[in-house]
Amino acid sequence: MRLLAGRVEYEVWEKIGPVNRDILLQKGADADGLLVTLSDRIDDELLSLCPNLKVVGNYAVGYDNIDVEAATRRGVLVTNTPDVLTNATADIAFLLILASARRMVEANEFLRSGDWVTWHPNLLLGADVSEAVLGIVGMGKIGQAVARRAKGFDMEILYVNRSPKPEIERILGAKRVSLEELLVKSDFVSLHCPLSDETRGLIGVKELRSMKKAAFLINTSRGPVVDQKALFKACSEGWIGGAGLDVFDNEPVPLDEPLLTLKNVTTLPHLGSATIKAREGMARKAAENVLAALEGSRPENLVNPEAFKK
Ligand code: DGY
Repeated sequence: MRLLAGRVEYEVWEKIGPVNRDILLQKGADADGLLVTLSDRIDDELLSLCPNLKVVGNYAVGYDNIDVEAATRRGVLVTNTPDVLTNATADIAFLLILASARRMVEANEFLRSGDWVTWHPNLLLGADVSEAVLGIVGMGKIGQAVARRAKGFDMEILYVNRSPKPEIERILGAKRVSLEELLVKSDFVSLHCPLSDETRGLIGVKELRSMKKAAFLINTSRGPVVDQKALFKACSEGWIGGAGLDVFDNEPVPLDEPLLTLKNVTTLPHLGSATIKAREGMARKAAENVLAALEGSRPENLVNPEAFKK
């Protein structure tokens, strides 16, 4: 807001949670720019009611909350906030890998509920992360940052990506394989692909059935990449070892979601980028992108370059 002050007039939605839809439609009608979070749905209807709009700046790297095709058609620029949250998100993915493998949440509850009576050779045994096989689905910046962490744990790294990443293969010894092979061979499968028509429901019954019985599915990308009902069956019926989830179909996840009843599922409230440094970086980028667009220059993080006209 310090960056915006003095350069544009702005109004802020001060409440926690997405901007009320009616207010967004009403305010959007006069706005030249919108700076939104991933909880705000920017669809064709909204765009059609914002005749002056030049830019939608998303305060996130993912932008599945925005109808980019509709924005492009209307000449509205869409921007996002890559890079600044790469390490924070990779850390959360690794946290979920470790917490799932070593049953951290379960152990914490066990101790606090007074069930710890003695050290025991078989107490809360978990899985090894070191030297295990990690399958990374989506070798973009965050996937690569997870791979670098995995290297420190001597993990074997398999990955799925549209294009090969020779540098990552050379430096980290990662191997590009098909999704089928990755699922069959990995002890941990970590999802780092954006949500799109192509990736919606990417991990469903067939994919979960093909994973190792002791393997864990880690999702820090977007909930709908995984079929959540199938995941519940997989985790409750022992098709896989469990899951570590930072994202869900519906957020906040309803408390009657069956996955929340399972001990082998570790959950977080979409905290991937929730560090002070990452959030400050995201705020700065979002503001700079919006300002650039409003001042007629090309924003650094433009998602739809085809909408930019000099
Ligand atoms: C993103 O940026 O897409 C994350 O999900 C939230 O920071």
